[in-house]
Amino acid sequence: MKKIGIFDSGYGGLTVFQSIRQQLPQYDYIYLGDNARAPYGTRSFDIVYEYTLQAVRKLFDMGAELIILACNTASAKALRNIQQKDLPLISNQKRVLGIIRPSAEIIGQYSKSGHVGILGTQGTVDSNSYPIEIGKIWPAVSVHQQACPMWVPIVENNEYNNDGADYFVKKYIDQLLSQSAQIDTIMLACTHFPMLLKKIRRYVPAQVQVLCQGDIVASSLANYLTRHADMEHNLSKNGTVQFFTTENAAKFCDTAKIFFSGELYVEKIVL
Ligand code: DGL
Repeated sequence: MKKIGIFDSGYGGLTVFQSIRQQLPQYDYIYLGDNARAPYGTRSFDIVYEYTLQAVRKLFDMGAELIILACNTASAKALRNIQQKDLPLISNQKRVLGIIRPSAEIIGQYSKSGHVGILGTQGTVDSNSYPIEIGKIWPAVSVHQQACPMWVPIVENNEYNNDGADYFVKKYIDQLLSQSAQIDTIMLACTHFPMLLKKIRRYVPAQVQVLCQGDIVASSLANYLTRHADMEHNLSKNGTVQFFTTENAAKFCDTAKIFFSGELYVEKIVL
């Protein structure tokens, strides 16, 4: 079995996986959440790289042929090193892809004003990966960024629908929009943030578009597989899904229900 591996620091990648599974149900998937060491958003460059590489190696050992880093923080801090330094030593057939590039490719198509907003973890914002990637594809677009460090804990503590969440949702939206009155497109550049979409929309003017990454990444993966026939041909197609976590399996199962609708059979692993 040659599977598609989906990696995230924890639960957030499930929002991306949900869209991938909907668009591409035929493939075999393994999802790995490094919940025992999450969140990654506040961790240093070196540590995110070290942890992500361990996860990538594990997913390859478990039969992944293609891995999607469904985590902005891991994509920002580890992907380039893994693609350039590690992957050539591991295999010349296996591939690792991130979620920043497909998000950067699409964002310029949505913005008419040429001013876009990025909401992410502190790590993603500090890495400057979005301004760099968007700048390569859409050099005329101005990128405004805002870190939202309280949003991941709000979501993971199941508080995202409660009144207390409004304070921090409004706070970061206001901080982003105060950077430019011309922002007309906002990317939720953290896989947890779609859970807050209803509240985010409440504090964003109606004419500003808010983009979630799930469908963007799923379409980009579908496109990648049509362009890479060898990889597509190699992948097994039995429609299976396995979930793995570095935390307690029952705990993962419980919280994962917030992010993912469908049966969850989860195993704990050590990286
Ligand atoms: N999933 C991560 C991301 O998309 C955020 C969660 C974390 O900080 O670990 O950036």
